[in-house]
Amino acid sequence: MGQETAGVDYSRIHRIDSPANRLLRRDVWPEGHDLGQQSFATLPYFDHLVRRLGMGPDTHVLDLGSGSGGPAIYMASASGCRMTGLEVNEVGIEVARGLVADAGLGDRVEFVLGDGMHMPFADETFDIAISMNVLNVFEDKVALFREVRRVLRPGGTWAFLSGTFDFVEGDPQDEAWRALYSRGYAIPQFTDDLASYKAKLRAAGFVVDEATEYISDFRDTIERWRDGWTRHRDAIAAEQGARQTDDHIEYFNGYLAMVEAGKASNHLIISTRPRD
Ligand SMILES: C[S@@+](CC[C@H](N)C(=O)[O-])C[C@H]1O[C@@H](n2cnc3c(N)ncnc32)[C@H](O)[C@@H]1O
Repeated sequence: MGQETAGVDYSRIHRIDSPANRLLRRDVWPEGHDLGQQSFATLPYFDHLVRRLGMGPDTHVLDLGSGSGGPAIYMASASGCRMTGLEVNEVGIEVARGLVADAGLGDRVEFVLGDGMHMPFADETFDIAISMNVLNVFEDKVALFREVRRVLRPGGTWAFLSGTFDFVEGDPQDEAWRALYSRGYAIPQFTDDLASYKAKLRAAGFVVDEATEYISDFRDTIERWRDGWTRHRDAIAAEQGARQTDDHIEYFNGYLAMVEAGKASNHLIISTRPRD
C-alpha cells in the first residue's frame, strides 16, 4: 500500500512503548482503556463487538488491519475465541507477536503479515471478520469486500468501524473539505458515505444487518488525539519526525472541523455472508 512513500509511518506509531508514544497514549486513553489501539475505538466498542458478534471458544475471528495487536488480544482474552490479525506493517506484526507471547495466548492468537486486498488465507477460514478504522485506505471497496467474503464461511459476519463522509462529488466546498482531511493524513484516503458503503457491501454479496452511528464519543476521541499530539508535539517530533507530527495535528484539526460541520461521522456496519 506504499505507506512509507505516502507519508504516515506506522512503524513509529506502532511502537506503543516508545517514550513519546507512552506520553501521548497516557493523555489519550483513560486509565485501563489503552489497548494499544491506533484508532477511534474505545474499550466499550470492543466489549460490544465481543457480545454482539457472539465471539467465543468456537469462533475463529479475523481482525483486518490489526495494527500493533492489542485490540485483537483483548477480544481473544475476553471471549476465548481463536483470533488472527492481518497487518501490512511489519513493526505492527513484531509488536503484536511480542504482546501475544507476554499474554501467553500463542496457542490461539496469531498475527500474519499481509495485504487485505490479497489475504493469505484459504476460502471460508473465518466465522467473523472485523476491521477497525482501516477501510479508508482501500480504493476499491467492492474488491476488498469480495476478498473478505471469500475468507468468511457462509453465514459468517463482517463488521467494520469506519469514518463516513457526506461529500458531494464535484461540490467545491466538499472538495475543499476532502483536501483538508487527506492532506493532514498524508496517506491517500478513499471516502464513502453510509449509503455507498451499503451499496458496495451488497455488490460484493453481503446482506447488511445493521449500521450504528457513533458520534459523540467519536468527536471526543478525535479531540483527545489532537490535544495529545499538540501537547507533546516536540517530544513526538524528536522521536518520529516533524512532518509526521504536524501532519497528524492538521489531520485531527481537519477531522474535528468536519464533524462539527456535519460532514464526517463514524459508523459500525455489520453484514452477513448469506448461506449459499
Ligand atoms: C488506523 S490503524 C488501525 C489499527 C487497528 N485496527 C487499531 O484499531 O488499532 C490502520 C491500520 O491498517 C493497516 N493497513 C493499511 N493498509 C492495509 C492493508 N492493505 N492490509 C492490511 N492492513 C493495512 C495499517 O498498517 C494500520 O496498522
